[in-house]
Amino acid sequence: INNHELVKFKGFKLIMGIHDPEDVDQICNLEIRDSDVFVVTYPKSGTIWMQQILLLVEAKGDLAAISTFSNSELIPWIELDGRRQAFITAPSPRLRVTHLQYKFMPAALRQKKGKVIYVARNPKDVLVSYFHFHNIANMLETPKDFADFFEKFLRGDVFGCSWFEHIKTWCSQKDDMNMLFITYEEMIQDLKSAVERISVFMERELTDEQLANVVKYSTFKNMKKIPQANYEHVSPKMFSQHRGRFMRKGTIGDWKNHFTVAQNERFDEVFHREMKDCALSFIWDI
Ligand code: PPS
Repeated sequence: INNHELVKFKGFKLIMGIHDPEDVDQICNLEIRDSDVFVVTYPKSGTIWMQQILLLVEAKGDLAAISTFSNSELIPWIELDGRRQAFITAPSPRLRVTHLQYKFMPAALRQKKGKVIYVARNPKDVLVSYFHFHNIANMLETPKDFADFFEKFLRGDVFGCSWFEHIKTWCSQKDDMNMLFITYEEMIQDLKSAVERISVFMERELTDEQLANVVKYSTFKNMKKIPQANYEHVSPKMFSQHRGRFMRKGTIGDWKNHFTVAQNERFDEVFHREMKDCALSFIWDI
């Protein structure tokens, strides 16, 4: 996988070699079961973390029960080549992740069929995490430098397209869906409460001990030690791990170590313009 190329499809950008536009185009026709769960994220917002939490909630905190396969095999991306077909016949509950924009997803989600967990993260930290990820992921173009990537992100010239568009379109449908909206920052600040909210939303009852184990095995520190939970085992063709780790920092506010004052002002200006009509409130300062 060394294509580096994004293909434009219906106003969205897909990654050549791992996404098939014809397949993506069929996702909207999938039949949804009430037990289906879609974790929706803009890239670098906490996907693998939410996969880990959901797997542990399903396994009632038993780490050994989820250790045979990797997170991305157990909760796959619906948009990856070949995964749509597998979804149709998979047993319930079907847990999936997606970075796709709302318009590609089955309309049944808006009739409150299935569940959606939208994980959002401060876009400044998303930008920084995505920049570093572009340096290790061989299917993405290596950035010229941070300044160049900064502009690309603001233009939406990356896989996932515009962060603003992604969150606004998904969240404008919030009330029509069974949606849990949660932020990376809330999960960092109080993981136990976040896991409680998630298990209630999933309609799974956990004992105090089970809950404590879900929390324990989904901390950054522990996930780093579990190869299946952090892409450590994947082929060097996919990630050049000598250039950086997928589990990089796992913190809030790393943008402050990367943005110049001018970049920060420019980002704020775009953020306020793009988000002015959006009713969401965030716990981060912007
Ligand atoms: S991807 O490629 O879109 O699927 O990436 P994604 O999993 O959405 O995001 C990766 C970032 O999430 C961080 N991460 C965590 N932070 C805190 N706690 C836990 N348990 C955790 N697991 C993953 C990961 O380190 C990436 O963020 P950065 O800022 O680069 O460290």
